[in-house]
Amino acid sequence: MDSSLFELRFEVSRQNLEKILIFISKLKNISWFKKKKYWEITILNHRKATLESCREKLKQIYKIDSKINKIKANWINHNQKNEKIINTQFFQISQGLNSHLKKKKKYKLTIPAANSFGTGQHESTILAVLAIEKLIKKKKFYSFFDLGTGTGILSFVLAKLTKSKILSCDIDSASIVNFGENMKKNGLNNCKNFRFNGLKHHVIRKKSFELIVCNILLKPIIKIANQISNKVRSGGYVILSGILKDQINFLYSVYYSYNFVMLFKLSLNNWSVIVLKKRK
Ligand SMILES: C[S@@+](CC[C@H](N)C(=O)[O-])C[C@H]1O[C@@H](n2cnc3c(N)ncnc32)[C@H](O)[C@@H]1O
Repeated sequence: MDSSLFELRFEVSRQNLEKILIFISKLKNISWFKKKKYWEITILNHRKATLESCREKLKQIYKIDSKINKIKANWINHNQKNEKIINTQFFQISQGLNSHLKKKKKYKLTIPAANSFGTGQHESTILAVLAIEKLIKKKKFYSFFDLGTGTGILSFVLAKLTKSKILSCDIDSASIVNFGENMKKNGLNNCKNFRFNGLKHHVIRKKSFELIVCNILLKPIIKIANQISNKVRSGGYVILSGILKDQINFLYSVYYSYNFVMLFKLSLNNWSVIVLKKRK
């Protein structure tokens, strides 16, 4: 029981979620839960002043109203009741708040809410996991890259499904820390994460991959199309997530010009993922 814990609580629309998560990314103990038409974000902190400052900026910059409450229970218990478990064909993905959770799928992944994106609760992540599961049933792959790994969730999905070594990168230093913690938490040791921007880095200069997964937004996915194309082997595949349904055609037209053809696409709410194959 901790009587001096404070909670900042507010609601964010789907479109603004990523922007706001980036804005609050320096704070710890962040949870976000999907409600019907919006995401509810809570940030817990022992210092009320820290939350007050965040509250003011949310109002000033993003016109978002928020509330600060004093809470009596510790934050894990507090959020446990809200936790949404994601179930896909092979995975049960949770933030690990409920220690009595029974394993119902072949693989269990625990990705606590922290400072990086990707607890599995966002449509773009769920869609990327579904696309990986569907693609990997069709074909055996041996080399992988997860571009914009965040918490590491897609790397860990690939690592559990394929037992192969997975390489990844993220531009954000918080990802390096979260990734390491999450890899340990999930009993994995075959994933390696680098801090770099895009795919132009000496560590992978001589490498190319059979499958690249990339869940970032439309603009960066287009900006680095050339880099992605250079790193996917001919006959290889790319999974592109983080796009909206009405952006599919435009994104596909860009990648088509790099010699990719559409294998399949999946959608959830307004979000989509596309899976492309590079022509030989
Ligand atoms: C939407 S999150 C996806 C996280 C996780 N892969 C998932 O599927 O939930 C996008 C991530 O890509 C990273 N990112 C964005 N642009 C990048 C770039 N050019 N190079 C490397 N990482 C990038 C961000 O820092 C963020 O962690």
